[in-house]
Amino acid sequence: MTRIVRTHSQKNPGVNPTSISPRQMPSVSYTMQNLFISLATIAVSSASLFFTLFVFLPLACLRALLPLNMKVRLSELRRNKVVLVLGASRGIGFNLVKQYANEKGTVIIAASSSMDILRKSIISLGETPASIQCHEMNLTWPHQKIADGIRAMDRLYGPITHIFEVGGLSNNIQDWAARSLNETREMISANINGTVTAILATYDLMKDRGYGKICVVGSLTGIVGPANMVSYASIKSFINTFTTSLRLLAAPCGVDVVCVQPGFIDAQMTRRLREQGGQNLFGSAEDLAARMKEGVEKGGRGIVIWPESHGAVMYALRGVNPICEELLKWVLMRLSMGKQKNN
Ligand SMILES: NC(=O)c1ccc[n+]([C@@H]2O[C@H](COP(=O)([O-])OP(=O)(O)OC[C@H]3O[C@@H](n4cnc5c(N)ncnc54)[C@H](OP(=O)(O)O)[C@@H]3O)[C@@H](O)[C@H]2O)c1
Ligand SMILES: *[C@@H]1O[C@H](CO)[C@@H](O)[C@H](O)[C@H]1NC(C)=O
Ligand SMILES: *[C@@H]1O[C@H](CO)[C@@H](O)[C@H](O)[C@H]1NC(C)=O
Ligand SMILES: *[C@@H]1O[C@H](CO)[C@@H](O)[C@H](O)[C@H]1NC(C)=O
Repeated sequence: MTRIVRTHSQKNPGVNPTSISPRQMPSVSYTMQNLFISLATIAVSSASLFFTLFVFLPLACLRALLPLNMKVRLSELRRNKVVLVLGASRGIGFNLVKQYANEKGTVIIAASSSMDILRKSIISLGETPASIQCHEMNLTWPHQKIADGIRAMDRLYGPITHIFEVGGLSNNIQDWAARSLNETREMISANINGTVTAILATYDLMKDRGYGKICVVGSLTGIVGPANMVSYASIKSFINTFTTSLRLLAAPCGVDVVCVQPGFIDAQMTRRLREQGGQNLFGSAEDLAARMKEGVEKGGRGIVIWPESHGAVMYALRGVNPICEELLKWVLMRLSMGKQKNN
């Protein structure tokens, strides 16, 4: 438990991560630098509002008026879909399988590390118009084994036209870097090493064919998160950056990359949080999956954010300067630990 005991901090102030000492108060030069950063942020954010309103909004209206065959290639409409979902056994991934399950002619490759849970979930769907294949894929496997696994699936059921990378180890609100170095290593192994390997192996196949859709789940936590979610939040920052950059690099090869940034979603990993109250704050995994499919199929959307209100708050918080960001991470940590104590 990460319960904070006051006497503990009096004995050893360096160890309590929630105490503040005068040494941590900002210096004058640092504060001046932060003021300058805030002024620049106001200017940039106003320019971004202006640009979106007068350049991107007219472009978006123009796109809405274009006929379908200019937005989507005809070969794409005729092609049978082969949709690979990594992390398909439950939560967001399983809801995504359900989204594609009623499409006749579509092949879904549902992959996860625990075949028992995966098979049970898929069997619960009964007969579906789409054909669903279960496949084992553990993202903590060595690189070569993951890449070989992707190529084997592509030969067996492919060519893969869509990949959704949803799988990964979830966070723990008590996540403390020092306490859980081993857990952090495992999270890096699945959520970074495994994810990047699977995505790049698929990208290589798609690039050569000049067609494909890649969708990877990052998180709004990767934008701003409580300090005690250090490993999970840094890993999600990596995924957000990796995916949004790959989008630009992959576009000329005909491969469309979409990053998903969920807020709080009603799934197993947030069950404890939900039990502590605020049930209606959470978005449903089904709604998110529907939006992921829509974003990937319709195109013209780099990031799928859901629930939208969570996205607006988190993106707005990107505008804080470094001093305020430090304070924000500390406040969020106190809030999340306060919730723990109410158990
Ligand atoms: N729920 C939220 O509020 C929320 C918010 C932001 C982002 N996200 C992200 O959304 C994604 C899915 O989350 P969820 O809420 O649906 O979580 P979940 O219910 O815990 O599902 C996680 C999925 O990942 C799979 N998985 C776990 N370890 C794996 C491994 N080593 N190799 C392959 N697959 C593995 C699990 O299947 P097996 O155990 O069978 O392998 C399961 O299908 C995660 O990337 C999560 O970080 C969730
Ligand atoms: C996934 O692989 C790791 C080691 O690579 C192993 O510890 C873990 O048990 C595996 N997960 C499942 C569900 O088999
Ligand atoms: C972390 O892993 C190492 C070996 O990989 C092991 O020796 C050590 O006991 C583990 N620590 C904890 C706290 O589990
Ligand atoms: C991630 O991959 C790198 C490069 O192959 C490797 O050196 C590192 O040990 C891996 N880390 C984990 C935690 O699996």
